Amino acid sequence: MIVTFLGHACVKLEQDGHSLIIDPFLTGNSLAAASPSDIEAEHILLTHGHGDHVGDTVAIAKRTGAQVVGTPELAAFLGWQGVENTVGMNIGGTYDLGYAKVKMVQAFHSSGYTLQDEQQIVYLGMPTGLIITWGGHTILHAGDTGLFGDMKMIGDRHPIDLAFLPIGDYFTMGPEDALTAAEWLQAKQVVPVHYNTFSPIRQDAEAYAKTLGEKGIKGTVLKPGERLEL
Ligand code: NI
Ligand code: MN
Repeated sequence: MIVTFLGHACVKLEQDGHSLIIDPFLTGNSLAAASPSDIEAEHILLTHGHGDHVGDTVAIAKRTGAQVVGTPELAAFLGWQGVENTVGMNIGGTYDLGYAKVKMVQAFHSSGYTLQDEQQIVYLGMPTGLIITWGGHTILHAGDTGLFGDMKMIGDRHPIDLAFLPIGDYFTMGPEDALTAAEWLQAKQVVPVHYNTFSPIRQDAEAYAKTLGEKGIKGTVLKPGERLEL
């Protein structure tokens, strides 16, 4: 499997001629390693309804016909914006993409759009994490989350080969809590995400990876555009 980090919390997974992308926030992300017009994917998976995760979903889905998977509220909201092929699933459920399976798990965060002109918040369901099982690999994208005790349960029940964990602090876990998260999840390898994109979330990812190494966990820092092979 080829795993490509495209910046912020956006990752692309490819194997056996299939591909999916998670949280494609590219336009407006100065660190993004791709343009939305370059993205080809069969599925777009969304962890929650914040702009730095939904990002370019509508444009990519309209151009490619990719099926968009997220919470029912998010699926409905995107449907109203012209995304024809959506799947609204919820926490605890598993959806079969045909070539991989996606299980939705909890995250502790929020999820919604702020309509500035109308002074309204559009609530978009629970924030989530996603466990993707594909060709013998188990990958967790934790979404945006704080540390929570049931990460131990998730780790006990899923053999996580690779975890994408936010380390930015301020909106999510910081490096210290993300280190505990990696231990509780029993992740074999961790790629830190959700840092340096905005000024409140500046972090030293290499220092975080070093602390992972001291705990016997492989920490891999990917620059936007870099890939790793599983
Ligand atoms: Ni968020
Ligand atoms: Mn975010």
